[in-house]
Amino acid sequence: MVEQREMIAAADDGIWTDAEPLLCCSVVPEASNTATFSFVAPSGAQFRYEPGQFLTLELPVPGGTVWKTYTISSSPSRPLTISVTVKAQAGSIGTRWMLDHLTPGMQIKATGPAGIFSLPRKEQKKYLFISAGSGITPSLAMTTYLFDRGTGVDVTFVHCAQRPQDIIARQRLEQMASRVPSIRLFFIVEEDDPYRVWTGLRGRLNQLMIGLIAGDYMEREVYCCGPEPFMDAVREMLIALGYDMDHYHQESFVAPVKREEQLPEHDDIIPDEETSATVAFSRSDVSAECKETDTVLAVARNAGIVIPSGCTFGVCGTCKVKKTAGDVHMVHNGGISEDDIEAGYILACCSKPIGSVEIDA
Ligand code: FES
Repeated sequence: MVEQREMIAAADDGIWTDAEPLLCCSVVPEASNTATFSFVAPSGAQFRYEPGQFLTLELPVPGGTVWKTYTISSSPSRPLTISVTVKAQAGSIGTRWMLDHLTPGMQIKATGPAGIFSLPRKEQKKYLFISAGSGITPSLAMTTYLFDRGTGVDVTFVHCAQRPQDIIARQRLEQMASRVPSIRLFFIVEEDDPYRVWTGLRGRLNQLMIGLIAGDYMEREVYCCGPEPFMDAVREMLIALGYDMDHYHQESFVAPVKREEQLPEHDDIIPDEETSATVAFSRSDVSAECKETDTVLAVARNAGIVIPSGCTFGVCGTCKVKKTAGDVHMVHNGGISEDDIEAGYILACCSKPIGSVEIDA
């Protein structure tokens, strides 16, 4: 009943909220083990988000629900549908389930959109998007958005793939680039496809290639997304080239490794392994003893209480819960807004109880 009311509210407002499930409307194969899933809102609501943001999907895999965070590959300039492009890696469970079982007509729950990896509020004149593998999705969303805006912003799009057949959404990108001179595409592959000529770049992205591809890279806002070693290599390359790293943006779905100087200054409350704490989950009527160094998410899991979670390091916002009493020590990575914190919300995955805490879960 509550859900129904929330769904009607979403429809009245005209903008989708995650109180409403997503209805899968199409599945398009992109490459091996890779597909784009598009969704509509059953209420007819439209989608509002920033290009580059992500969604966390609740996936009913055998053995229990998993929450997986995916960058939105569609553009908010096309608000009737929202899409994610996913690639199943060896051993992946949630993404594999999507590729094998999620078909048009099915509904799934989602949280978001969220994330701060997006175009700057003040539009820049020139961008350099660099991606590898399935890290292409935010660049794809941003490029589509800039293309749709039609303001002729200069985009140099560099994507690295193992083989030509692994390049995700290549035709969509080529279609945009064929229509406007402001979008230039460069694909770099490590291996050729058998029996098909590859006339593009080969090897690994390096300083020489960047100079040839975008000689004016110093003037460009750089966005990078891909596997962690790839992004490390791009960062190091740009630093070595003397690029102003204030204009460098990087997306990551693994826990950031913080250097000592980046660690937050601790306030006067530091969780202590020797000190015990109590977390009361009011809706479940469960109270659990723990250490001050345990996260609220871990305490909930041990007590058999399900709090949805995705990244587990404070980025995606999936584990947001309301704290109704007590204090926690929270060190997040941007997955919660100041307004939410002021309203009493915490991220369970990166909040540690201080003394007695009560959570609405
Ligand atoms: S699970 Fe992603 S912020 Fe907690």
